[in-house]
Amino acid sequence: MSHTILLLPGDGIGPEIVAEAEKLLLAVGEKFGLDFTFTRGLIGGCAIDVTGVPLPDETVALARAADAVLLGAVGGEKWDRGPAHLRPERGLLGIRKALGLYANLRPALLFPELAGASTLKPEVVAGLDIVIIRELTGGIYFGEPRGVETLADGTRIGRNTMVYSEAEIERIGRTGFDIARRRGRRLCSVDKANVLETSQLWRDVMTRLAADYPDVELSHMYVDNAAMQLVRAPKQFDVVVTENLFGDILSDCAAMLTGSIGMLPSASLNETGFGLYEPVHGSAPDIAGQQKANPLATLLSVAMLLRYTLGQASAADAVEQAVASVLRQGLRTADIALPGERVLGTAQMGDAVVAALRGGV
Ligand code: IPM
Ligand code: MG
Repeated sequence: MSHTILLLPGDGIGPEIVAEAEKLLLAVGEKFGLDFTFTRGLIGGCAIDVTGVPLPDETVALARAADAVLLGAVGGEKWDRGPAHLRPERGLLGIRKALGLYANLRPALLFPELAGASTLKPEVVAGLDIVIIRELTGGIYFGEPRGVETLADGTRIGRNTMVYSEAEIERIGRTGFDIARRRGRRLCSVDKANVLETSQLWRDVMTRLAADYPDVELSHMYVDNAAMQLVRAPKQFDVVVTENLFGDILSDCAAMLTGSIGMLPSASLNETGFGLYEPVHGSAPDIAGQQKANPLATLLSVAMLLRYTLGQASAADAVEQAVASVLRQGLRTADIALPGERVLGTAQMGDAVVAALRGGV
């Protein structure tokens, strides 16, 4: 059976890291008897350059025709001065919304070899294995009204709206409970219920859902405290579920626990299990085109794609083991190297993972 994967390299380091993912998928195909067909589309700044908009209709159509989407990154200074609706980031937000990808899974797993690369003490992060589940198609990212407006007296005001329906909270809440059930059975719901009404509703709904999941221990935490706890004692968490903006912030924070944001994959899923997979990091324009980027977050996103959309658990395990193996061999890109360690380029690291996969080591 052939699986169609839409590749959306995007901007900055996107093309370099997605090239490594494509190489890896071909190797996975050979090893596990899977047949991949690749299609390609434009998103972000490169789409603006060619079509005038960050998310051409054709890209959405290609995504709908594919079994899964693999995205690199979007954004760059070149497009930062345009109007808000013509920024590369709008392409990413638009495709999440168009495909209904409301459940964003961001695992933060520390490979033991990288304990020294974290800015936190090794004993604080050793053995870390948490998942942040971020609501991705609602909240302040999409709420109306929004915009910058000039009042009669000439002052300008900016406005965004944080809004959640009960149904939106319930479906991401259920994702949280379901995933917690398959892991350590602890779910921490993060909100700001001491200040925000949306958060009070959020907490209400989570508490109601808990009755359906008696085997999962639900706790609640305010987002400011959660940010502190993530750097103070991150291993207290198993699964965290939270709204869009809080999840954006906390997942960057969790990323640094693992040594580098260059290590974090993500999956964005809709109700049918269709998914868009992308590294959590951005387009890193400062190192674009120089073979300096760490492709591992993208390669680990390939593992998530194999696991969640294609149901190929053993292929996913093999990719994760191949990544673990290159780290065990001491292979590093610049972002995870300690002073004095030899540093590999993007494609060299990709080749090493493919070799480890082929060798089954
Ligand atoms: C992320 C990014 C995006 C977001 C940006 C690029 C729009 O920070 O995926 O975390 O804010 O969701
Ligand atoms: Mg972010």
